[in-house]
Amino acid sequence: MNPLEVNISSLKIRNPTMLAAGVLGISASLLRNAYKSGAGIVVTKSISKNPRFGNRNPVVYELKYGLLNSIGLSNPGCEEFLKEVNELRKDNIPFILSVYGESVDEFKYLIKFFNDYVNAFELNLSCPNVKTGLEFIKDVELVFDIVREVKSITKKPIFVKISATVNDVVDVGKACEEAGADAIVAINSIKAMKIDIRLKKPVLSSIFGGLSGEAIKPIALRCVYELKKELSIPIIGCGGISCGEDAVEFLLAGASAIQIGTAVYKKGLRIFRDICMFIKNYLNENGYSKLDEIIGLAHKA
Ligand SMILES: Cc1cc2nc3c(=O)[nH]c(=O)nc-3n(C[C@H](O)[C@H](O)[C@H](O)COP(=O)(O)O)c2cc1C
Repeated sequence: MNPLEVNISSLKIRNPTMLAAGVLGISASLLRNAYKSGAGIVVTKSISKNPRFGNRNPVVYELKYGLLNSIGLSNPGCEEFLKEVNELRKDNIPFILSVYGESVDEFKYLIKFFNDYVNAFELNLSCPNVKTGLEFIKDVELVFDIVREVKSITKKPIFVKISATVNDVVDVGKACEEAGADAIVAINSIKAMKIDIRLKKPVLSSIFGGLSGEAIKPIALRCVYELKKELSIPIIGCGGISCGEDAVEFLLAGASAIQIGTAVYKKGLRIFRDICMFIKNYLNENGYSKLDEIIGLAHKA
């Protein structure tokens, strides 16, 4: 028996670590490397119906405590991305396809387009770097409609990626659950900025970007804890996880799995194996035989 195996709505995953959407870009070869390096499953960059060119450079700025990015969901569009999807399928790499639409119809189009090829979908309803990104997540009724409409046309698991930049993450999570979502991914990067005091202007061409990495970990952890307390569907934790201790914190807060983004960028692909090893040792040292036994334990304290 594999003590780290996770089962999220019929999707069996060999361990709880996932590559978070977007951080390694578009190419199938990088996603394949992440899987071969030990990720339980990989999430693609968010793909839209039509190509998106994204923002002008500079679009990434490294901070001591994380990353600021304003890539703006640049991607080649669904037709072109199908080539990468076929590469992943050829190599038997399990993946979750992240989709981004500007309307309910666009989300439905993307789900229909990719339905036969993917293990699950992640709906990106929370990108801070595009005009409509955060508008979706702030409108709980719209979130409900998007999830319900999408669920009505597919049997594939639907994960919904939400933001912490809302009045109440639990309201958003409940809307997703009631609409039939199979899991919540919490959280996306958080709108932020940095100013270069010598140039006296923002470092990013688009002024604002999404903050990710260690700086947002306590916020992401709080969101996972709050969601776990009120929801029955699985929560996938994401935000600032950069070592085994961080991963265990998220599991204890109630995450059934975790996604890793910025730490892959900063520390490299070995992070998946390092985190799995840490979790395995943690289970052994504390007398547990499988992952399930520690999920949400911090709620009982
Ligand atoms: C360079 C970069 C690109 C990203 N692209 C996407 C994306 O296409 N879709 C998405 O849902 N999230 C995207 N994200 C957000 C990450 O998937 C993740 O939610 C966020 O970075 C927090 O996790 P982390 O602190 O482990 O990086 C991106 C993040 C970075 C740093």
